[in-house]
Amino acid sequence: MEFLLILALLLFSITRSCCLEGNGTHSDVLAPQEVRFVSLDYKNILHWKQHANSTNNQQYYVQWKVYGKKHWTKAAKCQGIRRLHCDLSQETSDPREWYYARVLAAHSGFHSPWVLTARFNPKWETSVSPPTVKLRVTEKGIVVQLKPPRSAHRRLNGSWISMRRLQRMSYTVYIMHNDVDQKTLEIESCAKQFLISDLSRRTTYCLQAESRLHLLDRRSPLSPKACVTTL
Ligand SMILES: *[C@@H]1O[C@H](CO)[C@@H](O)[C@H](O)[C@H]1NC(C)=O
Ligand SMILES: *[C@@H]1O[C@H](CO)[C@@H](O)[C@H](O)[C@H]1NC(C)=O
Ligand SMILES: *[C@@H]1O[C@H](CO)[C@@H](O)[C@H](O)[C@H]1NC(C)=O
Repeated sequence: MEFLLILALLLFSITRSCCLEGNGTHSDVLAPQEVRFVSLDYKNILHWKQHANSTNNQQYYVQWKVYGKKHWTKAAKCQGIRRLHCDLSQETSDPREWYYARVLAAHSGFHSPWVLTARFNPKWETSVSPPTVKLRVTEKGIVVQLKPPRSAHRRLNGSWISMRRLQRMSYTVYIMHNDVDQKTLEIESCAKQFLISDLSRRTTYCLQAESRLHLLDRRSPLSPKACVTTL
């Protein structure tokens, strides 16, 4: 009796270890595809696609690590999720580090292999949003105020850190009249506001601005058009 019990336990543990470690539970058909970071203003989001041949209701598990370290860390908010993205901005917040992330899909007892990203560095790979543009008309011309996009990171006191603090950047401002370019200005990002003079009177001008990261000369899309009429 005792012998049978031990035998049963032994068989049980053998089957368990087979099914946890062996190939029986692996299913390549579940493997997430195109696992990659997309980063805008240091908001580092891991994205992936569901395998083309898999069912709809699988769950995903995300882990991350610093390049060169051994151990993977579970992304606490992205365990057993059904969505196809995971915000890793906080986990990957040191702009000098290189990171990896990996995703595994599971469905009714089967799971895929881990699928790894390419090596990711926030500083080199982030793109930037356009600045916020505010216009004011005075006797002398148009006063332009540019506000840098804010990054995904906050200071200890809760205030947002602007992109300007994290990377060298500048702006290009396009001044148009009837959709024809009149002037283009390059503005250093520390200039909070500046005056555009030598404009025609009682004329409507529209402005658009883009941000530029100097590191790889990466430019943002244009800001929405802002228009004013001179005095
Ligand atoms: C498990 O899969 C790997 C890779 O496909 C293969 O090399 C290995 O021989 C398999 N092991 C067993 C026990 O089937
Ligand atoms: C999905 O299944 C079809 C038919 O078996 C196969 O031809 C195709 O390569 C599979 N797609 C992927 C992404 O594996
Ligand atoms: C937080 O700190 C920054 C920089 O030290 C400062 O400019 C900002 O006013 C502070 N914000 C609050 C809400 O205290």
